Amino acid sequence: MNKDDKRVAVLTSGGDAPGMNAAIRAVVRTAIYRGMKVYGVSRGFEGLIRGNLTEMNVGSVADIIHRGGTILQTSRSEAFKTEFGREQAKISLEKEGIEHLVVIGGNGSLKGGYEFSKLGINVIGIPATIDNDIVYTNSIGFDTAVNTALESINRIRDTASSHGRIFIIEVMGRDCGEIALASGVAGGAESILIPEIEPDLEQIVDKINAGNKRGKLHSIIVVAEGVYPVMQLREELQEKTKRDTRVTILGHIQRGGTPTAADRILASCMGKAAIDCIIEEKRNVMIAGKGEKVHDIPLREVIRGTKTLELGMFEIARILSI
Ligand code: F6P
Repeated sequence: MNKDDKRVAVLTSGGDAPGMNAAIRAVVRTAIYRGMKVYGVSRGFEGLIRGNLTEMNVGSVADIIHRGGTILQTSRSEAFKTEFGREQAKISLEKEGIEHLVVIGGNGSLKGGYEFSKLGINVIGIPATIDNDIVYTNSIGFDTAVNTALESINRIRDTASSHGRIFIIEVMGRDCGEIALASGVAGGAESILIPEIEPDLEQIVDKINAGNKRGKLHSIIVVAEGVYPVMQLREELQEKTKRDTRVTILGHIQRGGTPTAADRILASCMGKAAIDCIIEEKRNVMIAGKGEKVHDIPLREVIRGTKTLELGMFEIARILSI
């Protein structure tokens, strides 16, 4: 096939992440630059099953680089987990003569993409999730989410210090402590609870009590979601330290907002690299890397691996919060 005949579709899937729009823009514009036809799929794999495809042009992605969310919208598709769903999705692509699909999303979406590639569609993955839990790579959205969490921690620190209170701040991350660790270190948290390390309540209490003896009355504890029920933690800390304790759950605030420069740059480089892979006839890979340094790795390696958190940062947090 002549390269001018190449057609590619792009979709965003799973939880949205700031920078997805910058990635869509890079995919669309690079594809057009390379003489390809490019289609946007609305609502992720769900939309692909339903055949919700629209041809995109340079203007379709104008004025979106700074916007959070995803202009293509997203979904967590149960139907796509079935063979029937994936067959339907393949038919949608075949109707438009599309052989290549760029999937922008997290672990579940990349897994779905890999299953889909077994039907003969060339799937190129772009890692995008605030959780930063995809192996061998930084994920689009993580930097923004950490900075959003950090801004909240800064604000909470003001009120915590004014009232001499303990604050428990719950952040997202699914099964991964990356957001908690990064925002906790950057926010100067006294304790950080992550899924990768068994929580030690006595140690937290001892630290608070030692601080109190030195005249330090407030304390920030960052907790990754799912590690410890935060309302229970509040009760336990209040009882054991006799200090006024409050809880803030940051939740989906971390998913929205304008992407940071780092996320926009990562998304731009990864989006361009995804199309370059198609031009170079590479099949079923994910774009991986940091900043401007990106490369491709087989999708099957990505979906088999599990990310292990770099715990050096946890040690730094422990030492600096004595
Ligand atoms: O994967 C991103 C994420 O925000 C996780 O951190 C969180 O556990 C989950 O998605 C929340 O999913 P939903 O938006 O479907 O409630």
